[in-house]
Amino acid sequence: MKYVLAPLADYTNAAFRRLCHRLGADLTYTEMVSAAALAHGSSPTRHLLEIMPGEGPVSCQIFGHVPDELAFAAREVTALGRFVSIDLNAGCPMPRIVQGGDGAAMIRNPQLIHDCLKAIRSETDLPVTLKTRVGPSPDKVTMLELLDAAESTGCSGITVHGRFTSQKHGGPVHLDLIAELVRHARIPVTGNGGISDLPSAELMAQTGVAAIMIGRAALASPWLFGDLKAAADPPSQDERLARQNAAFSEHLANLIELHAQLSCNFPDDHVPPLGDYLLGFVRTHLFHYFKGRPGVGEFRRHLNEIRTLADLHAAVEPMLNAQYTPATR
Ligand SMILES: Cc1cc2nc3c(=O)[nH]c(=O)nc-3n(C[C@H](O)[C@H](O)[C@H](O)COP(=O)(O)O)c2cc1C
Repeated sequence: MKYVLAPLADYTNAAFRRLCHRLGADLTYTEMVSAAALAHGSSPTRHLLEIMPGEGPVSCQIFGHVPDELAFAAREVTALGRFVSIDLNAGCPMPRIVQGGDGAAMIRNPQLIHDCLKAIRSETDLPVTLKTRVGPSPDKVTMLELLDAAESTGCSGITVHGRFTSQKHGGPVHLDLIAELVRHARIPVTGNGGISDLPSAELMAQTGVAAIMIGRAALASPWLFGDLKAAADPPSQDERLARQNAAFSEHLANLIELHAQLSCNFPDDHVPPLGDYLLGFVRTHLFHYFKGRPGVGEFRRHLNEIRTLADLHAAVEPMLNAQYTPATR
């Protein structure tokens, strides 16, 4: 079974992807990249297309609903020569995406998805894939039409998130529907939704998918990929603490390297100073590694007062040394 890291906007940049690859992810995805922004020459959008040495195979995910813009994006992405495939996002339920006619808005319109995939395929020799959902709502299951759009345009695979758009990112994952899709598919299916441990991965594997995609659970536990591949028992409390500390330090080091790369490659784009850049990620992502530890709430509040890199290191030091004391019941 292959295990892949899901595209997660604001999280799956090169720094985190490299960490997940080192810890066992077979494939990772960029955050979703706007085809319209690429077509209109937005330079900051290009930051999302940066990759780092040692990342392993990365697929570039693009979003949009205008075939010409997607074709332009496909040409640009292909010309970079960095990515193993191009993925079209037809599943994001965020209001700003759906209101623009992109992401999950397209699930109701398989013909549009067909036209978009065709436009992408016409401009690249990279494999093209589709990431979508089982349908817009329980009374409208469109996944087989979406599969047909992917297969008839020569796509190399389809990822299905086993939730309806109406569920956003919560509620049950419809494994029965994923299994039905697999039965119909002539291309490999990647299953996604709610995988956080070995039992949930085993249930997904029983649907017959060729690969399993993990999103949110990887944010705090990037070692999940390797553990699932090895069918390993969950780590002990002490082992978990050690892994969280190691992941924090490696993730931070990767971010420092990525910041240097962005500053060098985009000198006119006002990349934020290193301290601000790192703090942003510590507030939104890296503090997850300390979840459950004594003092994490105070640490998080304290982050608002931090101004310099030296302050950040001083605040992190006690968290790295804190002993995890599970609540006694
Ligand atoms: C914060 C966040 C950002 C996301 N960004 C993207 C994205 O850029 N592209 C995409 O196709 N899906 C995106 N998703 C959906 C995930 O890729 C995935 O399909 C979803 O989280 C279900 O998997 P999980 O239950 O393992 O988290 C995002 C989800 C979250 C929670």
